[in-house]
Amino acid sequence: MKLADNKATLSFSNGSPSVELPVYQGNIGPDVIDIRKLYGQTGMFTYDPGFLSTASCQSAITYIDGDKGELLYRGYPIEQLATQCDFLETCHLLLYGDLPNADKKAAFSQRVTMHTMVNEQMQFFLRGFRRDAHPMAVLTGLVGALSAFYHDSTDINNPEHREIAAIRLIAKMPTLVAMAYKYGVGQPYMYPRNDLSYAGNFLRMMFGTPCEDYKVNPVLERAMDRIFILHADHEQNASTSTVRLCGSSGTNPFAAIAAGVACLWGPAHGGANEACLNMLEDIQANGGVAKVGEFMNQVKDKNSGVRLMGFGHRVYKNHDPRAKLMQETCKEVLAELGLENDPLFKLAMSLEKIALEDDYFVQRKLYPNVDFYSGIVQRALGIPVNLFTGIFALARTVGWIAQLNEMISDPEYKIGRPRQLFTGSPRRDVPPLAKR
Ligand code: ACO
Repeated sequence: MKLADNKATLSFSNGSPSVELPVYQGNIGPDVIDIRKLYGQTGMFTYDPGFLSTASCQSAITYIDGDKGELLYRGYPIEQLATQCDFLETCHLLLYGDLPNADKKAAFSQRVTMHTMVNEQMQFFLRGFRRDAHPMAVLTGLVGALSAFYHDSTDINNPEHREIAAIRLIAKMPTLVAMAYKYGVGQPYMYPRNDLSYAGNFLRMMFGTPCEDYKVNPVLERAMDRIFILHADHEQNASTSTVRLCGSSGTNPFAAIAAGVACLWGPAHGGANEACLNMLEDIQANGGVAKVGEFMNQVKDKNSGVRLMGFGHRVYKNHDPRAKLMQETCKEVLAELGLENDPLFKLAMSLEKIALEDDYFVQRKLYPNVDFYSGIVQRALGIPVNLFTGIFALARTVGWIAQLNEMISDPEYKIGRPRQLFTGSPRRDVPPLAKR
C-alpha cells in the first residue's frame, strides 16, 4: 500500500483530542483512510452497515468504476476480454495475474480438463436430495461436500493445496451443475469429454444423453463462454466478501466457496437473473407489453414492494458494461435459434426503453444490469430458470477462489471480525420463571 501525501484528521465537538489517520492511495479509484488504530486511539468504532464506504481489503484483481461503467480484470477491460479471450484464459488471468501465452494456455486448459470428473461417490451423495430440490440448495451441498472427497487439498495455508483446490473447483463446477440439472430431470449424468472446450463440454453434459452424439453449436458455445467471462469476478460483492470472511477463519477452500454459493443465491445478488425472468414471465402471463405501464407504476410505488429486477446496482451508477455485451449475445443467440420474435425478449426491450426514459429511474441512476439479459439468453439456450444462479456460481467460482487465495497470501490478512453498535438491553438479572 502506498501512503498518500495527505492525512485525515478526525476532530470531535466534545473537546476530545483530534486524531490523525493515514491515507493510502490505490493505483486507481478512491483513496482510503486507514482506521485500524482508531479504536485503540479513541475507544470508538466506525459505523457502516452494508459497507457503503468501507474497503475491507486491498486487492489487485478486479476494478470497477461505477460512475464510468467500467470493469477491468487485472487491468483489462471486460469488453476486450469478452471479445478476444475465452473463459479459461480469463481464469488464468484472474488466478495468476496475466493472460497466458499459447503454451501456457494449452497447459492450463489441459490441467483443468484433467480434473473435470468428480469422485464417483458424489453421485450417491447427490441422490440423497429430493428430485425437486432447488439446484442452488443442491450445489451448496455438493460444493461443501468436495472437502470430504479431496482431502489432499484442504489446507488453506499450503499454497500447493490452494492451487490444486482452485483448479479442481474450476474444473468440477460445470460437472456438478450439470449433475444437479440431470438429477432434477431424471436423466443419466453425462461424463465430461476432454476434446471439447470448457463451455462446449458443459453444454454437452447439460443437454447430451448417452443415446446419441451431441453436436456443440458454436454460436451457443460462444454465448455460454461469454456468460462465464462476464460473471467471473466482480471485486468485493456480497458473495466474494462472504468467501473471504469464511476463509479468513482458516476453513478449507471448498467450504469457503460453498459459503459463496449460499450467499449468491439471494435475489438481490445472483438470484436476480432468475427473479428477472420470473418477473418477465409474470408480466407476459398478465397481458404482456400492454401491461408494462401498469407494472412500472407498481415498481415506482414504494409501498408495493415491487422492484424492476435486473435494474440497479450497488456500484454501477451508469451502464453496467456487462449488460451491453450480454445484450449483443442475446441478439446473436435469438437469431441463431430463430427466436427474434420471442415475446419475452420484446417485453424486456419495452421495459428497458421505458425505464431508461422514466424520471424515477433516471434520477436514481438505475440502469439494466447483466442479469436483465442473461436470463433471456440462458432460457433460449434451454437452461431452466431455477438453474440460472447455478450457472452464475459456476462462473464466479474462479473469482471467489482467486480472491480467497489473494487474501491468504496477504501478510496483513486477519480473521474477519466486524464490530457493532449495541442497542439491546444493558446487563440485567434473569427473573425466576414465575415472575416473567
Ligand atoms: N427497481 C425499482 N427501484 C429501485 C431498484 C429497482 N430494481 N433498484 C433500486 N431502486 C430504488 C430504491 O427503491 C431506492 O429508491 P429511494 O432512493 O427513493 O429510496 C434507490 O433506487 C436506491 O436503491 P437501493 O436499494 O438503496 O440501492 P442499493 O445500492 O442498496 O441496491 C440493488 C442495489 C440491491 C442491486 C437494487 O438496485 C436492486 O434491488 N435491484 C434489483 C435486483 C437486481 O437486479 N440485482 C442484481 C444485482 S447485479 C448482480 O448481482 C449480478
